Formats: sequence, C-alpha cells, structure tokens
Amino acid sequence: MTITGPTRADALLDALDRGLPHGEIPVGLFGNQEIYDRELRRLFGRCWVFLAHESEIEAKGDYVLRKIGEDSFIVIRDEHGGINVLFDACRHRGVQVCRSDSGNTSHFRCPYHGWTYNTKGDLVGAPLWRNAFGGMPKEGNGLTKAAKVASYHGLVFATLDPSAPPLEEYLGGMAWYLDLLFGLNEHGMEIVGAPQRFVIDANWKSGSDNFAGDDYHLGTLHRSVWEIGAFPVPFRENMMGYHVQAAPGHSLSFSMAPTEDEPGPKFFGFPEELVATFDTSRISAHQLDIARRSRVMVANVFPNFSILALPMTEDGAHHPPTGVVTIRTWQPHGVGQVEIWNWFCVYKNMTPAQKDRAYRAGLGTFSMGGAFEMDDTEPWITVSRTGRSVAADLLDFKLNYQMGMPGVGIAKPVEDWPGPGISYWTRYEEGVQRNLYRFYGDMMRAEPGAWPKFSFDD
Ligand code: FES
Ligand SMILES: [Fe+2]
Repeated sequence: MTITGPTRADALLDALDRGLPHGEIPVGLFGNQEIYDRELRRLFGRCWVFLAHESEIEAKGDYVLRKIGEDSFIVIRDEHGGINVLFDACRHRGVQVCRSDSGNTSHFRCPYHGWTYNTKGDLVGAPLWRNAFGGMPKEGNGLTKAAKVASYHGLVFATLDPSAPPLEEYLGGMAWYLDLLFGLNEHGMEIVGAPQRFVIDANWKSGSDNFAGDDYHLGTLHRSVWEIGAFPVPFRENMMGYHVQAAPGHSLSFSMAPTEDEPGPKFFGFPEELVATFDTSRISAHQLDIARRSRVMVANVFPNFSILALPMTEDGAHHPPTGVVTIRTWQPHGVGQVEIWNWFCVYKNMTPAQKDRAYRAGLGTFSMGGAFEMDDTEPWITVSRTGRSVAADLLDFKLNYQMGMPGVGIAKPVEDWPGPGISYWTRYEEGVQRNLYRFYGDMMRAEPGAWPKFSFDD
C-alpha cells in the first residue's frame, strides 16, 4: 500500500513500531519532510541537547553561538561565572542579536534599533529610552532562556522543555560510561582548537546511527585506514568487544582486550605519563578496568551528540598512534542536510606536545579533510537519497537491522557485565541501533509533558 498525505509520518512511525521487533526500519524516516518537522519539535524541542564544552567559555563574557535543532542560541558565561543559554532573537522584533560565532563581550546590542542585553540576557537599555519606552519595565523583556541548562564533566547541555527530567536522569546509565572517559583524573578534559563545521547532503540520523555502534562498516569502508597503519589494532581483533545499550536511546560500543595483560593499546591509546594520573578517586574499579582494556569507545547520546575515543595517527610511517577524542553533533539542517560539528578533546594535564600530537592525529583522520571522515559521509548521502525515493515508498522498502538478534550472527548477551544497561559480546551486533530507534519512536509519539522511560529497569 502506498502511504500518502498528511498521515504519512504516523504511518512511518507505525511501520517503525511493527518492524523493530523484527529488526526492520522504514527508510522513509531518513527522507520524509513531515517526520523531520516532527523531529524538530518532539526531539530537539524536548531532549537535552549538547551545545558546548565549558572550556570554550572559560572567562566571564566568553560566548559561543550554537544550535538547538535549527535555532541559534548564545551560550555565554556571565559576570558571575554562570552559564546562560539565550535564544538569539531580539525581544523587540526578533532580530538576531549575536553576529559572531564566538567572542567575549559585556553585552549584545541589536543591530536593528539598538536594544541592549547583558551577559545574563537582561535588557539593560535601548536608544532614546525615555521617549520610546519610558514607563515600561525592563524586566521581562530580556532574551529568552532555554528552559534548563546543565553540565556533565564540562559538557554543557540545554533543553527547551521545562518538563524535562534533570540531565543526569536523562543520561541514565550513559553517565557511568561518560565518567570512564571524561572523569579519569581530577583535571578533566578541555577542547583544543575551534570546532570544525561542514554541511553534507545527508539526514542527521545517519551520524547518530553510525556512532551508536556501527562497527561492521570498518573493514569495508575504512579498509585503507589499516593499509596506511593509521590504527594499531588488527581488524578482526578490533571487532572483539562489547555493545552496550546504556539506557533507552543512548548506546555505545567498546573495542576491548579480553584481559588487561593483552598486548596492544590501553586506555584508548593515551600517553603513559597521562595514564599514570588515572585512578579510582572519582570512578569505580570496574570503570577504570573498562577504560584500561579499551582500545576504542564510540557512543551516541540521544539524539545527536556523539563521542569517539581511540588510538589514531594521520601517518603511521612517521608518528605512532596516540589517544584521540572527538566529540560531535549532527545538527539537523533540513530533512536532507546535516551540519557536522566536530571538536577535539584533550586531558588538561597533558603536556603541550601531547596535546598538539593528539590534535594533529585527530585533524588528519576525523575532520573534513581526514582519512576516516570522508569515507563515512559519502554513504550517508545515498541513505538520504533512498529515504526520499518514490521507489522505496512504492516497493515498501525496509532497512535491515537484524544483526545480533536471536539466531542471527555470533553476538551473545553478557550476563555479568559490570556496568549499567544491556551488553553484548562482540561488536557484530545492531541492538545498539535498535535501542536508538526504539527511544526515537517513543519520543516521536510522546505527548507534551510525557516522557518515555530512562532506564531498562523502570
Ligand atoms: S529588533 Fe532588536 S531592537 Fe528592534
Ligand atoms: Fe566510520
């Protein structure tokens, strides 16, 4: 049956509900305008969305301009050291008040008539005030704030929904896994360089889907990376590890040595002097053990915040691999476009030379001109094309996410996994992505103020 008209989004979500237990997902989710419009409201208008790292706005008055869905927000450290997330629209006529991607300022002055706001977003003045607005209170006419703002290990998130649970409740079990990457020592991480941004003709979900744990593509799409010695773990060995559904919507994958005595990189390939500063004063022995054995961690925090840590070099002939951490967002930019934002993180107590090495290795691999990045983006463009195709609609075309389901492949549930969530051994598994789409479907159907569960135990 051909699905047409204004109910097509509902029909696609129905098809998702019916298909997921069988590992089937309707490709129309990647190309339908009505679905996309609903995502902006029901996902990006409600979920906690990653915006910035605190190290990008360290001084009072530092700000960066970021997006929630398609909308611009100023993320600024105010005069008292607090972080404000302000909708970048003048309260007079809705004009954009911030005209720079980042900077330091004591105020924003709207270019249209000159209304002026301080670093908390309060209206502090306007030209010819007495003649124009004398008698009108300034209170209540400041820039509009995001409903809630919170940080976790310096990662700043905001939500537009006042009914959203606290950030840590939203992260659920994923917080435990963020701890074992971002909280390994008391110094924590910082951003090095400015984020890169580039737009490709793909749907934003392809990035989240990939970073939720699509390890299967490595041997085919990224074969050249092994050929040039960019990554130190052989392909077959790298597929050994765990897939984890940390909490509804949030998934991750570890390439991991079976024991800590195994040869090969430990702690994501971080330098040994740095590793010597990692301890259990902030994290549990289980978390430290997982970090120690991990070669790679790749993760997606629903909806569009992804993390990757791994040993990497841009040129194996000249530089040995070192631990690289990239965090990224898949910013929706219309149903058929995504703006990829890409930051590199380093531990604050690394030496300048170690930070420089990690940054160069990251730039040469996971950036617009990097060896890995261009591999990935090309297929995603064609996913989006399939998603909006008439043929896929007429022929009832479905995507196959069956890997690791009972009787399919070698993946097995892990009974004694020490962390939160549901874990599978070997990375030949797609439950991590089914987890993403299950929560996606629940959020897309949730009524205003209602939320799906944030734990598998609820
Ligand atoms: S629109 Fe901003 S001051 Fe008028
Ligand atoms: Fe990839």
